[in-house]
Amino acid sequence: MADILISESIRGAAVDALRARFHVSLEPELWKLPAALAHALKDCRALIVRNQTSVTEELLAAAPELEVVGRAGVGLDNIDVEAAERAGVVIASTPDQNAISVAELTLGLILALARMIPAADRETKTGNWNRQNFEGIELYDKTLGIVGAGKIGYLTARRALALGMNILAYDPYLSPDNILLNDLRAELVSLDELLGRVDVVSCHLPATRETTGLMNRERFARMKPGALFVNTSRGAVVLEADLLAALKSGTLGGAALDVRATEPPAKGELEALPNVILTPHVAAFTREAQERVTRAICEDVARVLEGKPAINPVGRALPRNSAVK
Ligand code: MLT
Repeated sequence: MADILISESIRGAAVDALRARFHVSLEPELWKLPAALAHALKDCRALIVRNQTSVTEELLAAAPELEVVGRAGVGLDNIDVEAAERAGVVIASTPDQNAISVAELTLGLILALARMIPAADRETKTGNWNRQNFEGIELYDKTLGIVGAGKIGYLTARRALALGMNILAYDPYLSPDNILLNDLRAELVSLDELLGRVDVVSCHLPATRETTGLMNRERFARMKPGALFVNTSRGAVVLEADLLAALKSGTLGGAALDVRATEPPAKGELEALPNVILTPHVAAFTREAQERVTRAICEDVARVLEGKPAINPVGRALPRNSAVK
């Protein structure tokens, strides 16, 4: 019987260290089999997941011994946090540990779009040398619109400043006096104003009821002609059919998506457009971020199992078996 079940691919020194203290069962494919997952979780005290395991109310009900779910990552759209709170299951996540990697990929995608790097690479490798096909744009003195100015939005904007970009931000949960906006020399504006004024839009939003479908036909239509669109946050934020239409009509100059409405996505028309860059949700996938994420989540899960509070809890649940009531 395992104390801790890991239902996705999470490995490394921190997992090995956890094995020295607990009985850990690593089943990297189990997220694909909800019934088998529920069965395996029956006697477990902890579950560690990435973003593919659906932690539903039903799953929590099937795990009466469960004290903590560790989310190795930041997005919580695969976890019913409210149901976990009701069940007294602590959710711990890693809110900071992969933020730099996501910001770095975002910057990479913006540069790749502005200079058409993937298309130039593809064409040059076929033996062509068509310089005239690849006249890009400079980012210097262009304006970046950060939609969702949390940690990742901030780190992305910070890096864009180094390229000489100007920053506008939209975030309904920030006050204009926020010190980080000041640090970015950023103006906090409404979403519609931002879309109409910036050259590059970069989304850094969680998937919530408020943000689902936020980037739709009307919003793409508000963007400056030829503007670039990047999403490294959650696929649900974008209505992909509307993005496709905006790209095909020439309203947008290009788009880069690391996240999709459905993952993995079915092959569609976006794949065929030369000014679209697609990556398979890898923004957080760097050696450094994964080491940090794994270390932090293993440590937090161990803490809860040892009766200590999690360092990065989500919500306010006390463990089911906590002595502190
Ligand atoms: C995150 O939410 O941390 C990243 O998108 C990576 C992941 O989902 O695991």
